[in-house]
Amino acid sequence: DKGAYPFYMLKEIDEQPVVIRQLISRYLPKDGQPQIGEGIVKDMLAADRIYIVAAGTSYHAGLVGARLFERWAGIPTEVHVSSEFAYEQPLLSEKPFFIFLSQSGETADSREVLQNINAQGFKSLTLTNVEKSTLWREATYALPLLAGPEIAVASTKAYVAQVTLQAILAYALADREALNLDLEQELSKIAIAIQGIIDDKEQLQEVAEEMLVPAHHAFYIGRGVDSAVVLEAALKLKEISYVQTEGFAAGELKHGTLALIEEDTPVIAVMTQPRLAGLVRGNLAETQARGAKTYTIVTQAIAKPEDDFVLPDINELLTPLVSVVPAQLLAYYTSLGRGLDVDHPRNLAKSVTVQ
Ligand code: F6R
Repeated sequence: DKGAYPFYMLKEIDEQPVVIRQLISRYLPKDGQPQIGEGIVKDMLAADRIYIVAAGTSYHAGLVGARLFERWAGIPTEVHVSSEFAYEQPLLSEKPFFIFLSQSGETADSREVLQNINAQGFKSLTLTNVEKSTLWREATYALPLLAGPEIAVASTKAYVAQVTLQAILAYALADREALNLDLEQELSKIAIAIQGIIDDKEQLQEVAEEMLVPAHHAFYIGRGVDSAVVLEAALKLKEISYVQTEGFAAGELKHGTLALIEEDTPVIAVMTQPRLAGLVRGNLAETQARGAKTYTIVTQAIAKPEDDFVLPDINELLTPLVSVVPAQLLAYYTSLGRGLDVDHPRNLAKSVTVQ
């Protein structure tokens, strides 16, 4: 029941701080020590490479997860789109371990891969929002995302749950002393930060109406982990507003796509990584010089007086959990401002059970 909310999507965006708290109490219950099951930890630590397989928004969550597994746990990790992996399996390492990310647990493309890798005798873990779903049942292990039912076609809280749970997994595999991070505390801080963004959402509605509702096309740019977030930001905006949007690694723009920037083309930069901010600012200036209307989403440490939306500082690799939220809200308000059915974009289904 969406209660007083005009659309499920807004309700589900609002639920994100609660989802993070649920994941903390289930998976980091005692003194912040991860509880995810011995078998999973043992099998993942025995692997020489992790393969994350997913589609759409879940794939985008995997792009963030891969960085967490590599940088926190030191395990090489690849992320693959399931519809490609299914029919062009890459050369695998000697001891692969597979992670399937799926809100619904029913995505046919991902199931095809799971069946293939089961036939090859490899171990797997599904992170899904739907217990007893197909991907839940057919994997070696499964863990629930605990996001509660996600009804809007555009996925929001499942993305946040997938990134959070992958962070907890990477933390469980890491040398936690060397990592020197209190994940429970950091995630609690993030839940508060997300609430702060939600409380501040009116300014995003204004920006959406001014900059994105009238647009024909738009760009999101970012580097490092932000290059993963901008893919999700762009998907969210295009799927519910029908404004054609590309998410781009900021440095890649000049290698061709810069040609598409015209007078008033919206270009939104996500900048959360201090060591990369200067470069992204340079890329953004290149679009401004061609007439782009720009908007910046930045962390406090990077913020300059001319920046538009400022996020609190949090652990570098966990910034996607907060930086995605203004993008979700921009997408929501653009769809709303265009008078569209936010929860039911044309041509799309919530659970994609065909290949
Ligand atoms: C976008 C969206 C889709 C799904 C994709 C995978 O907002 O919801 O891109 O993320 O179809 O679905 P699941 O996660 O159920 O496997």
